[in-house]
Amino acid sequence: MRAAVVGTGYVGLVTGVCLSHLGHEVVCVDRDEKKIENLKKGILPIYEPGLQEILEKCAEKERLFFSSSLQSAGGKDFLFIAVGTPSDEIGRADLSQVEAVVEALSRLELVEDLLVVMKSTVPVGTCIWAETFLKEKSRRPERFRVVSCPEFLREGTAVDDFIHPERIVIGAEQEGDARKVQELFAGIETRFVLTDTRSSELIKYASNAFLATKISFINEIAGICERAGADVKEVARGMGLDSRIGEKFLNAGLGYGGSCFPKDTLALIYQAEDLGYDFRILKAVAGVNEGLRKRAVQKLERLLGGNLQGKKIGLWGLSFKPGTDDIREAPSLTLIQKIKARGGEVTAYDPLVKGLSAAGIDGMRYADDPYGAAEGADAVVLVTEWEEFRKADLARVKKAMSGNVFLDGRNVFDPLEMKGLGFVYEGMGRGTGGEMS
Ligand SMILES: NC(=O)c1ccc[n+]([C@@H]2O[C@H](COP(=O)([O-])OP(=O)(O)OC[C@H]3O[C@@H](n4cnc5c(N)ncnc54)[C@H](O)[C@@H]3O)[C@@H](O)[C@H]2O)c1
Repeated sequence: MRAAVVGTGYVGLVTGVCLSHLGHEVVCVDRDEKKIENLKKGILPIYEPGLQEILEKCAEKERLFFSSSLQSAGGKDFLFIAVGTPSDEIGRADLSQVEAVVEALSRLELVEDLLVVMKSTVPVGTCIWAETFLKEKSRRPERFRVVSCPEFLREGTAVDDFIHPERIVIGAEQEGDARKVQELFAGIETRFVLTDTRSSELIKYASNAFLATKISFINEIAGICERAGADVKEVARGMGLDSRIGEKFLNAGLGYGGSCFPKDTLALIYQAEDLGYDFRILKAVAGVNEGLRKRAVQKLERLLGGNLQGKKIGLWGLSFKPGTDDIREAPSLTLIQKIKARGGEVTAYDPLVKGLSAAGIDGMRYADDPYGAAEGADAVVLVTEWEEFRKADLARVKKAMSGNVFLDGRNVFDPLEMKGLGFVYEGMGRGTGGEMS
């Protein structure tokens, strides 16, 4: 089949390349001409394991193309919308990118039917709005129908998630449309959830909100553990063995970040509000998450004698989670800003992220490895749990530092071992006897 994918970010590019891998002819469209020029040369704008290899194979077989013009969507059977839906200034979903694509689509002179597939995470009712808009504005209203097919991939394992998804959700007002989209994924073994567009849109938000809730819940338990002298890792292990709870997303630490959870939880709070519903749990979830970085900086201050003025901090990890170069809403950003505002100096190391000017943070030092970040530091703070940090030679780290404080923001290390190595070690919720924040 022939498909166009609009937006070549994490979702669009993975979707386009993987659909082509399934045997379809795909054109990936983006308004960013530089990105498209690079993609034509095989240069990826993002890091995603396995993507480069598949892209090269599909391009070689001449079934994967790149274009900066939406005109190239003409003559296709499907058009995926995979553009960004960030938060606006107050936290609602900013739909301007989606609206711009739908507007441009309405001006296409279509000679064949086009099924528009909404991959972007959009508030309930957006697919119905898009279809109504296209029917009202297009000169060929009968050609368009809009279905929802939200994306659940995880950055860092996105290709594998596309090929082995736990489910594919398709929301359509007509079952035939849902079946057509299902056919596109022929060859993928999974469970399909065929439903209406509104439920489909809400499945995406509800899933992210639930996972965020799990994370904030365990972080609240971590707060209790610190006061009670218990270890949240032990508590989570015991809880997670209950199959009704499950062990995933029970890691206490610096909370969730990234391009989805923070914005999707806020967007759902506002959608509820617009519908006259007060989503109290989710408001608390977002509030708890926001407080975690403050809690970490307070710990650091306490561990360093009360203030951070002139203190050298080695920061391990900048991306919002391991396995990706994405720094959107990464805890590292808030921590760095807070440390710098208190007069501390930061030297950071991340295996993939080599600069933060894209996030508006300048005047930072970057090291070439974890030891370089620890060199002369009063404290090391582990922010992102990359494998490289787990394997670090901690005795060498200790030797490189001028101080001995280690704040483990992801509870990666064993408190007793760290103390044995001479660190003043603290994790998040590990009952190490520290004062409470
Ligand atoms: N990143 C994730 O892990 C993830 C997972 C699931 C769902 N989602 C959702 O998928 C959507 C896309 O996310 P992303 O992370 O890939 O976004 P992104 O910001 O990385 O990429 C969006 C791309 O769309 C392009 N674009 C914007 N407007 C355009 C237009 N009018 N025409 C052509 N191209 C245009 C941008 O140039 C950019 O390359 C969002 O709604 C997001 O919430 C993301």
